[in-house]
Amino acid sequence: MASARALCPPLLLLLAAAGAALAKLPLPPYVRPCSFKLSDRKLSECALKSARDIWPNILKGDPKYKVPVLDPMHLDRLVVIDGKGPLGMQLIARDVKMYGLPDAIINSTTHRSNPQDNTYVATIPLVHITAKYNVSGRILLLPIVGQGNVVMDLKNVKLVYQFDFRLEKLEDGETYYIPLPGARLDLDVDGMTIKMDNLFNGDGALLDTTNNFLNEEWREVFDSLRPSFAKAISEVITDILNGIFRQVPFKDAFLDVDAV
Ligand SMILES: *[C@@H]1O[C@H](CO)[C@@H](O)[C@H](O)[C@H]1NC(C)=O
Ligand SMILES: *[C@@H]1O[C@H](CO)[C@@H](O)[C@H](O)[C@H]1NC(C)=O
Repeated sequence: MASARALCPPLLLLLAAAGAALAKLPLPPYVRPCSFKLSDRKLSECALKSARDIWPNILKGDPKYKVPVLDPMHLDRLVVIDGKGPLGMQLIARDVKMYGLPDAIINSTTHRSNPQDNTYVATIPLVHITAKYNVSGRILLLPIVGQGNVVMDLKNVKLVYQFDFRLEKLEDGETYYIPLPGARLDLDVDGMTIKMDNLFNGDGALLDTTNNFLNEEWREVFDSLRPSFAKAISEVITDILNGIFRQVPFKDAFLDVDAV
């Protein structure tokens, strides 16, 4: 413990430095900049075109801009269901892979020169998820502890991502467009299926009954996992925005910024 505490001050310094300018980079070649002089409506239209152009280009990730691989999107660990909800079970997933992001349709964007309420609305026809799970608690009133593989399909996933930004001069003297932490993500689906293997040590009948129950009650299952999924996805989107906008000065990320 003592040695961990001794490590703290330098670590804090490091974090503070990470909050400053990262590295001054040019705009990635696949990003078409929009003019900040445009009306909010035109800026939103331009941002929509730009976002649609950018999407296929970042699916494989772009380490230089800290954009993670999105096809599939990978999460090390996700507390899928925290055990506090009506389902009475805790579901922890590791090595989570989400497929289907290349098919995302970006429906609309609202981009304003005003820092509040910038949004992206997108729909993904099918998100296929594979993971390793640990479950504990109760299912169908039966006590359960187990681990295995889980596969989920989410149909017509609708995302509304809403963020605020701030223009901020960082240590290098440049002004940056900084997406603020605390973005909101609304998430909904038209349907979902879930299949867990190896429940009740692979007892076939109980396993089928449980999977059937989870699929019949998918709305409740989805509502239970919505907060953790929304938080994880929102963090990935915020990371992408930060990876680009914290490294590309405002004047290079947009056109006509002198007018601001
Ligand atoms: C987004 O666009 C797709 C394709 O046009 C459509 O199927 C979907 O319903 C739209 N979603 C929203 C939220 O408007
Ligand atoms: C589940 O729990 C076991 C034992 O605690 C652990 O070894 C394993 O890594 C856990 N698996 C997941 C997916 O969390």
